[in-house]
Amino acid sequence: MKNEQAQQQCDIGMIGLGIMGRNLLLNMAEHDFCVAGYDKDETKVTSLNQESKQHDVYAASNIKDFLALLKAPRAIMLLVPAGPAVDAIIEELLPFLQTGDLIIDAGNSYFKDTDNRAQKLIAKGIYFLGVGISGGEEGARHGPSIMPGGPKAAYDRIHPIFSAVAAKVNNEPCVAYLGPKSAGHYVKMIHNGIEYGIMQLIAETYDVMKRGLNFNDEQLCKIYGEWNQGELNSYLLEITGNIFSKKDDRTGKELIDQILAVAQQNGTGMWTSRSAMELQCPTPTIDSAVMIRDLSVFTEQRRNASEIYQRAIKKFTGVENTFLTQLQQALYAAMIITYAQGMALLFVASKKYEYDLDLATIARIWRGGCIIRATLLEDICTAFQNNGDLPHLLLDPHLSHVLMANQEDLRQVISQAIVLGVPMPAFMASLGYFDSYRSAWLPANLIQAQRDYFGSHTYQRIDATGTFHTQWEE
Ligand code: 6PG
Repeated sequence: MKNEQAQQQCDIGMIGLGIMGRNLLLNMAEHDFCVAGYDKDETKVTSLNQESKQHDVYAASNIKDFLALLKAPRAIMLLVPAGPAVDAIIEELLPFLQTGDLIIDAGNSYFKDTDNRAQKLIAKGIYFLGVGISGGEEGARHGPSIMPGGPKAAYDRIHPIFSAVAAKVNNEPCVAYLGPKSAGHYVKMIHNGIEYGIMQLIAETYDVMKRGLNFNDEQLCKIYGEWNQGELNSYLLEITGNIFSKKDDRTGKELIDQILAVAQQNGTGMWTSRSAMELQCPTPTIDSAVMIRDLSVFTEQRRNASEIYQRAIKKFTGVENTFLTQLQQALYAAMIITYAQGMALLFVASKKYEYDLDLATIARIWRGGCIIRATLLEDICTAFQNNGDLPHLLLDPHLSHVLMANQEDLRQVISQAIVLGVPMPAFMASLGYFDSYRSAWLPANLIQAQRDYFGSHTYQRIDATGTFHTQWEE
């Protein structure tokens, strides 16, 4: 009966009532929007309909019934797993859609898929927005960061809803129109790449403190908690501190030590690295984060290798407090370098794909709601506000000052890790990138000479214009 009253009353519909879809829908309903959900799973539909006592929410397990609930032209959001599921839902919807209807893909879709889908749909008169949503279950329910891209006119229709449900920082919603086509999904992909990089950096600080300094979980909880009070303040550091105090229900021991050390992934970090390679704009910290997740899966081989290459982790002989301060500063430096790589890739991609991204806006909407929210984003936002054409964060006067101050700590930490035998690949990649980027000369002349030597690929000279080739052997 209630659903009948709601015919064509709902402002937006959600397809996929998993935890994210359901939470986002309830968030919208709490902000006084009339919303409808669709899922084939009857239990999810029943459970959402039960919420209708408190909220203006409706749910259906039949696509026609669901669509009948929506105001025309309809706005339909998809929160289903990226990939074939998105295409399957679009196919299912198409026979019932009308010109002017709008599909919003809010999953972690690959940006090139988004462009293809948008092109196909606009030919049928259907608008398509690719929207990144970050913040996990909590964010969806109480305020995510939202990264929309696609036709501006379509975005304007949905803006009041997004603006109401997004996280707020200084009363500003963490959402903004980012650009045409797949701009939203591209930015979300980079968000996730940075997420991978920072998670790996934090994991390496854990490793060096656990295996190098023999710290226990209680000490680690305290250290991350303290670090989170200062300039490192960030969501990822906050949850890391909390993780080390969590007890396992089964054993009563710390849960972290019961978790299998094999990392999984859904692909967004790899896509970032792939895009960086395609656009020839390096992101080595992110690449190494992906690489280590991949390597973590080779458990059997690593077990064998640990037998072959036996070398116990050396005993740390330095001053603990000094090292901890260095580690804290080094993490801050590496975090800046990681954000810098992600933003530099956005700068290049914006030109290549004509997204016309505003990097200050992106930094601004990442300050709240999302997984990579961090106090550092204030400085990053300011850097791009001060210079809208800044091609790289490492050229910003303030952040370069910070890096100058912290770089010695980064070197000290890595040197110490090498001596101890604790792997810190993301730290090393960050320093290698930093040292290469700040180097006015790189040994690429030798690369050119080698290319010309074995393949007549030619080279340019420092003292004359043109292209040259040498007969390297008589
Ligand atoms: C977010 C997260 C979210 C998801 C990650 C996990 O912004 O809310 O990034 O999108 O949890 O994609 O990615 P992996 O499974 O690849 O680690």
